Amino acid sequence: MTDITAPYGPLAYFLDLHPDLGDFEADVIKGLSLSQKALSPKYFYDAYGSKIFNHITELEEYYPTRTEKEIFQKNAKAITASIGSGAAIFEYGSGSSEKIDWLINGLADPTAYVALDISKTHLIESASSLTQTYKLPIAAICADFHTPIILPSGLLPQEERWLGFFPGSTLGNMTPEGAVALLKNASETLGSGAKFLLGVDLEKDPAILRAAYDDKKGVTAAFNLNLLRRMQRELDAELCLDDFVHQALFNDDLCRIEMHLRAIKPTSIMVKGRRFSFDEGETLHTENSHKYSVTRLKKLIEKTPWRLEEVWTDPKDWYAACLLSNR
Ligand code: AVJ
Repeated sequence: MTDITAPYGPLAYFLDLHPDLGDFEADVIKGLSLSQKALSPKYFYDAYGSKIFNHITELEEYYPTRTEKEIFQKNAKAITASIGSGAAIFEYGSGSSEKIDWLINGLADPTAYVALDISKTHLIESASSLTQTYKLPIAAICADFHTPIILPSGLLPQEERWLGFFPGSTLGNMTPEGAVALLKNASETLGSGAKFLLGVDLEKDPAILRAAYDDKKGVTAAFNLNLLRRMQRELDAELCLDDFVHQALFNDDLCRIEMHLRAIKPTSIMVKGRRFSFDEGETLHTENSHKYSVTRLKKLIEKTPWRLEEVWTDPKDWYAACLLSNR
């Protein structure tokens, strides 16, 4: 079911695609039943988890947020010139739309800004507040970009030149196959002549990566362990928090950071009358964060209709802002 309201307060329109917010109880039970126990990282982001994540982005060891910002700021002129004038921006996972100022301000004659996010209230609030700063039409779409997005035809006028914007290296949370699927879907959504500005975290010394996901202050550990607290709070799960520790490891074969919750002794989690036991050392896999080289990224993009047009990096080559163009 889709429904669109236009106008919607100060917004040009609001479209609700009713994203599947997930069923925490069912997913916990399913995930704990797997031979490698696992849970989707989307469950990190309850109100408390979102707060901890913001704290992570400010940590000394967590370089991606700050490095991406630096690249965007230093290359704003070149990036916006490559995008060209008269573009309409479509942001994937806009959150609080805080990364959009430099782009709207730097582009010549941007024609519209459409924010897409899964969290409806937050989305409407942040998109609406942007209308006070910018003259251009602003709209919002509530949807989950992990699933194919099918918009009502005509919603994104094809005479516009669309620019997809997907910062934050969130693409890394997906498997390479998932990333290809998202880019293919975006190619259809945004149409011919579209461009796509993508933030990607690059391969580097595994020690730097591990530190970024296992900081000294233990903020990332708290972020990961919040999943167990959520099970206690929301599902009345019976578990002993002290039996689990945060673990961030670099998987060399798959070139990704993996986060796990590792049992340091034999223990169990009891949910809704079912007991799931952990051997000593057994883990619950909670997140993947894939790291790319520009070469592997290029190969991935070749499996989609997009073409890698330009890459901007920081002096250490830790992070990349990539501009793709649609075929
Ligand atoms: C929001 C998915 C980009 O993978 O770096 C940060 C999430 N997890 N620290 C990332 C995260 C642990 C982050 N992304």
